Amino acid sequence: MSKIVINGGKRLTGEVTVQGAKNSVLPILAAAVLCDGVCVIHNCPDLADVDTSIKILRNFGAKVDYSDKTMVIDSKGIENYEIPESLMREMRSSVVFLGGIVGRTKKAVISSPGGCELGPRPIDLHLSSLKKLGVDITEEHGYLYCDATKGIVGTEIHLAFPSVGATENIILTAATAQGVTVIHNAAKEPEISDLADFLNSAGARIYGSGSDTIYIHGVNKLSGTTHTIIPDRIVAATYMAAAAVTKGKITLLNVMPSHMVAMLSAFRESGCDINVTGKSLTITAPKNLCRVPTIRSLVYPAFPTDAGPIIISMLSLAKGTTVFVENIFENRFRYIDELNRLGAKIKTEGKVAVIEGVKALSGANCVCPDLRGGAALVIGGLAAGGSTEIQNISHIKRGYDDIVGVLQNLGADINIKE
Ligand code: EPZ
Repeated sequence: MSKIVINGGKRLTGEVTVQGAKNSVLPILAAAVLCDGVCVIHNCPDLADVDTSIKILRNFGAKVDYSDKTMVIDSKGIENYEIPESLMREMRSSVVFLGGIVGRTKKAVISSPGGCELGPRPIDLHLSSLKKLGVDITEEHGYLYCDATKGIVGTEIHLAFPSVGATENIILTAATAQGVTVIHNAAKEPEISDLADFLNSAGARIYGSGSDTIYIHGVNKLSGTTHTIIPDRIVAATYMAAAAVTKGKITLLNVMPSHMVAMLSAFRESGCDINVTGKSLTITAPKNLCRVPTIRSLVYPAFPTDAGPIIISMLSLAKGTTVFVENIFENRFRYIDELNRLGAKIKTEGKVAVIEGVKALSGANCVCPDLRGGAALVIGGLAAGGSTEIQNISHIKRGYDDIVGVLQNLGADINIKE
């Protein structure tokens, strides 16, 4: 099993172009299923989750070419509507393909997505919403059989929780429905707006994305289109934290600072100097990081849950104690025991983490429990004196495009060892 080996303490400097957003490209690949034509998608990051999505698209019957961060998808030949269990298990977020394939073929057979490393990942909001749109769904032997051959009819849907995935599945199912669908209490994340922009460029009529009420006027047909994926705000924060803990100074190219307001506020409160010019951002680490007022992860535009592990790892080296409250996922602190092996002093109680800053971390062997927890361990390893080995790095490859290469270019002594 390959592992990441870091010889920490190297100051990071230089420039990095931030990859396209994983959580934008996945629903947009699902949206390409709806388009009866060729879609060209630029700034597609090279990720394990993108590889899995390509397998799902090809399994539907689409022709897919991917090279040099550009994906070309010809969906004209789509006839199949099943997602094999192996692929559903490979990527929990493959449930977002449900809306795309039901919208296109009016049928779908998917295995119930298992939980994930973050805890139970129910899809009740997805299913109840699609049923309201006219999709018959029966569950048998761990499979979901969906049938919308009676037609998908627009309706009003109120989400009990502004679920990102459920909002995306409703948009995908309603884009070619008869009539108008209104989503109340919709998710407002930037990735939702990127999905709506993609679909509208293909002929959809979606209004209000980015707000908590989204209107989808169903259209008969969607054509092929061209689109560029927005930058990944969580990956941007990851490299910012890497610079912060190594007393470095780096410039991020191709970021959307307006997508990062809550995160930038936390970085600045920790003493980092951040200079934004258009789509680039320069972060300069302070001599010493300091604690920040309590951070609570909430839905957008509040501090994002995915950046929790990133900021907690950084603040493990701050002067003073920070409290972090995780309000989105039940099991998001599994990496903290591993971070404490590097000498961090973090205690957790339920959804609360108390981060008592230490002067220094020291290298150790650790195991990556999930995607963003893995990023937190990389950040810790970059700061730690001595050598840090991180196993189970397949989690990290799900969401980071060549993180080792990027960090090497910034001056880190980091390698992948088989
Ligand atoms: C998306 O997951 C992201 N994944 C997650 O990023 C991100 O953490 C999350 O949104 C929140 O921003 C992708 O976009 C592929 P949710 P999603 O539906 O859609 C509960 C990463 O690291 N819920 O907004 O699954 C759920 O259990 C990943 O990149 C229901 O109860 O998130 C959770 O507690 C991790 N019933 C909360 O809502 C449902 O039907 C947030 O889930 C759906 C969700």
